[in-house]
Amino acid sequence: MSTKKTVLALKTGLWVAALSPAAWLTRGVVQGELGPNPIETLTRVTGLTALTLLLVTLTVTPFRRATGWNPVIKLRRPLGLFAFFYAVSHFSIWFVFDMVFNLGYMIEDIAERKYITIGMAAFLVLIPLAVTSTRGWIRRLGRKWATLHKGAYLATALAVVHYFWVVKADTRLPLLLGLCLAVLLMIRLPAFAPGRRSSRSVGKGVEDDVDAEGVRVG
Ligand code: HEM
Repeated sequence: MSTKKTVLALKTGLWVAALSPAAWLTRGVVQGELGPNPIETLTRVTGLTALTLLLVTLTVTPFRRATGWNPVIKLRRPLGLFAFFYAVSHFSIWFVFDMVFNLGYMIEDIAERKYITIGMAAFLVLIPLAVTSTRGWIRRLGRKWATLHKGAYLATALAVVHYFWVVKADTRLPLLLGLCLAVLLMIRLPAFAPGRRSSRSVGKGVEDDVDAEGVRVG
């Protein structure tokens, strides 16, 4: 199968997988099958999907480095944008159903509940990453794009702490996701990536379509 067809097949699979939680939740809302507390189910599934997709997004570069298969980088933008889609849905459910569109309640909740404070911080870090995920912004920002998009590490770390503080009792899954993040960050360290080419060494002229990892995008 050609690279183009392989990437298309992977992207199709990604869309189906990424949209499945939303389809399941929508069906659950329509059929009234989201359990005794549908708002809590909506909040939890959107939150967990957002965090999981962020972690999957962070596996793309190590996978590319390990396999040398560059086209996999084309999956990173849709993955990141789906993570953002679920984070926006997660935030909206809280703002609509918990805060009932009331900014005063919202500010109070952010100030009072530390897991909301750190959740909001994670969300605020994700916004510029989503906005600047286009080719236009990659060109406009040049090397600054690479620095900005390292914010994905911070957003994911904040979201893991948010999850850890939410669950209080059974912290096994937040700890596991935290461990996954730690491994994904560790293998980015130069010590684990011998012969890594930095975006600087890619050479003049091709810089504007080079993403954070020094790879041509699109
Ligand atoms: C915009 C700011 C955010 C607010 C107001 C918020 C609010 C909440 C609330 C109210 C809960 C449920 C607490 C409970 O069940 O008692 C929750 C859980 C969660 N949130 Fe957030 N959150 C925010 C941002 C995020 C972001 C950016 C992510 C991930 C990228 C995230 C991931 C999660 C996860 C994984 C859970 C736990 C799900 C579970 O219990 O299975 N949240 N959040």
